[in-house]
Amino acid sequence: MQLIDGTAAANTWISEIAQRVQQHVNKGFQTPHLAAVLIGSDGASQTYVNNKIKACKRAGFKSTLIHLNDRVTQQELLQTIDQLNGNSEITGFIVQLPLPSHINETEVINQIDPNKDVDGFHPINVGRMVQNQPGLISATPLGILKLLQHYNIKTEGQHCVIVGRSLIVGKPLSILLTRNAQPGNCTVTLCHSKTQHLESFTQTADILVCAMGQPEQITGAMISEKTIIIDVGTTRVADSQNPKGYRLCGDVNFKSVASKCKAITPVPGGVGPMTIAALLHNTMLAAEGLESK
Ligand code: GUN
Repeated sequence: MQLIDGTAAANTWISEIAQRVQQHVNKGFQTPHLAAVLIGSDGASQTYVNNKIKACKRAGFKSTLIHLNDRVTQQELLQTIDQLNGNSEITGFIVQLPLPSHINETEVINQIDPNKDVDGFHPINVGRMVQNQPGLISATPLGILKLLQHYNIKTEGQHCVIVGRSLIVGKPLSILLTRNAQPGNCTVTLCHSKTQHLESFTQTADILVCAMGQPEQITGAMISEKTIIIDVGTTRVADSQNPKGYRLCGDVNFKSVASKCKAITPVPGGVGPMTIAALLHNTMLAAEGLESK
């Protein structure tokens, strides 16, 4: 079994982005500036956002964290987004999900200027992706594509089984992997919570992407020796042995599949760092797009 090291691949990618930042600034353009809107005090969301802000420093970006109380109203949040849309100092921004239950997520995403939507969640960017037009592609799927490319994993003609149909990962990735592109040209099966006999699909996968947010659901019996596994899961599971009180758990039971599968991404250290690097990449693209206007 080969371990697919997302941290190493992300480091390479971030170094490349840092060089592009230098070239951009040397040409007289503004330093790219990413803003992150974080609402409330969910520990996992705070960690993700902090990691994104830290990564900005490594790439040479400016960053701003806007931390709002979880009692923020829909109107206040939309106003914050309008301010970021109109602020020429800000290259791009994200609103960390999930949002409190009183907030309408769709309305929030639709309010973001598509050219600053470095998460690639706005319907305009999703539409551009579907039609193969230039745009901002959702960070986790983009990070997975880059990871496959970095490891020279063949996708053309391969059967990719994706488990999980979220708007953030499964659905966009299914579209990206079926594109006539490199990486792409896969035959994709998109499985979800209502799929019957899940193992009959996962067992036939050349590439298996697990993105359902259910810790350790995929076991050795559900895969084959040829399977390359991309584990997107990062669930915090209580663990009294761990000083943090929890451990990060993928959607794959690592011990169960490790001796059987062809390759696998670890959790942590697999898809997570690539998602952050992809967000920086999108911010760089947004900055370069502004150049030409
Ligand atoms: N929550 C989980 N993943 C993501 C992501 O990629 N972007 C944002 N904004 N929130 C998330």
